[in-house]
Amino acid sequence: MSRWNVLVVGNGAREHALVWKLRQSPRVDHLFCAPGNGGTAVIAENVPIAANQVEALAAWSADNQIDLVVVGPEEPLALGLVDRLTRRGVRAFGPTAVAARIESSKSWAKSLMVEANVPTAAYAIFDDAVAAWEYARIQRYPLVLKADGLAAGKGVIIAMTPEEAKAAIRMALEERTFGEAGRTLVIEEFLAGEEMSLLAFVDGRTVAPLVPARDHKRVDDDDTGPNTGGMGAIAPSRLADRYGVEHLTSTILQPIASALADRGIPYHGVLYAGLMLTADGPRVLEFNCRLGDPETQVLLPLLDEDLVDLIEATATGQLTPGPVRARAGYRCGVVLASDGYPGAYPTGLPISGLDQVDDETLVFHAGTKLVDGLLLTAGGRVLTVVGHGETLAAARQHAYQNVEKIYFAGAHYRRDIGGREADQG
Ligand code: AMP
Ligand code: GLY
Repeated sequence: MSRWNVLVVGNGAREHALVWKLRQSPRVDHLFCAPGNGGTAVIAENVPIAANQVEALAAWSADNQIDLVVVGPEEPLALGLVDRLTRRGVRAFGPTAVAARIESSKSWAKSLMVEANVPTAAYAIFDDAVAAWEYARIQRYPLVLKADGLAAGKGVIIAMTPEEAKAAIRMALEERTFGEAGRTLVIEEFLAGEEMSLLAFVDGRTVAPLVPARDHKRVDDDDTGPNTGGMGAIAPSRLADRYGVEHLTSTILQPIASALADRGIPYHGVLYAGLMLTADGPRVLEFNCRLGDPETQVLLPLLDEDLVDLIEATATGQLTPGPVRARAGYRCGVVLASDGYPGAYPTGLPISGLDQVDDETLVFHAGTKLVDGLLLTAGGRVLTVVGHGETLAAARQHAYQNVEKIYFAGAHYRRDIGGREADQG
């Protein structure tokens, strides 16, 4: 068996988890991460190229005999990193730029959902402020306004009143606060319910789902405070049990994969459905063209298959239909964030206590860097600490016991990751 040199692109805890999982594969030889962080530096070699420098990444990969590039974030996918790698003959994991439009254009994703009969919020699309306001002022509130393009998680506004909608329309369509991403606005019905993430490997036609996961997007306990990149996750989430993963897959993920293949845009990679479980059934809030962060930090430890095997099957159209094999038990991942996050935050603060964490806890780094052997903060989300257990309650307890051992000035985290689901049994 020839072993592969693998490059992971990105610098978050998701990418540290990818590197960690790939390290376990007997099929991996040299492992690189671009640009990586203080955690990936220890188990792989960091390459100082930013994740959005797609031409430089493609050239470096070709020049350094890389056999596989695993792309973490959406931006390089939307910028066509996979297309460039393919042209250079380098294997890549992730969709092409055209297929990545499922995430990079919300209006495109919406029309695809309608065509494929996938349940989602009722919506309308505008690029003119007057027309948008004519529509918005007579809708039911709350009302949801979304920048069409990639806006780093900041492009969704939930307007409680017509005045707030008017301000959002002005910001997006007149003041161009979201830049090019906000040239077009999707205005949609507000959906109430519980949020859930369902991710699957897709090989063009066949869809192989992972266990359902649950993210926690608000910064403070009880889902209060501003939205963040995600403050923690648990898996498996039992919220979807009444529908079943197979049903959700066959009514949501499979129709999208088939519609894309029928349009001549076969999707290869991980397809992520952000769902709202409403009183009227599941509805899609959004699709992402990649693994989620922080979901990946709890999903990969549960994955009971070789990641290189899965990636190869995904690229070559050889996935086995049905759920991928999962380990028993639960995982709970708690994010430690810098003081002030998701607003402005300091960096360069020493992190201590990692040597106190028990051997069975996984600590995935995001905003960290190693300077002369010293680990310092370097971003908003700093670490994801993942505990495990036979029950969700035990996994939570394991995670929090270890979170408490880690210190940096101003560190904050939510105390209720997975709490509501654990209470429900
Ligand atoms: P998105 O980037 O589309 O996932 O939106 C970010 C967050 O906004 C979601 O995780 C939801 O919490 C919320 N959201 C988005 N769309 C809706 C909607 N139609 N109804 C209610 N909440 C929404
Ligand atoms: N966890 C949400 C995301 O990755 O977009």
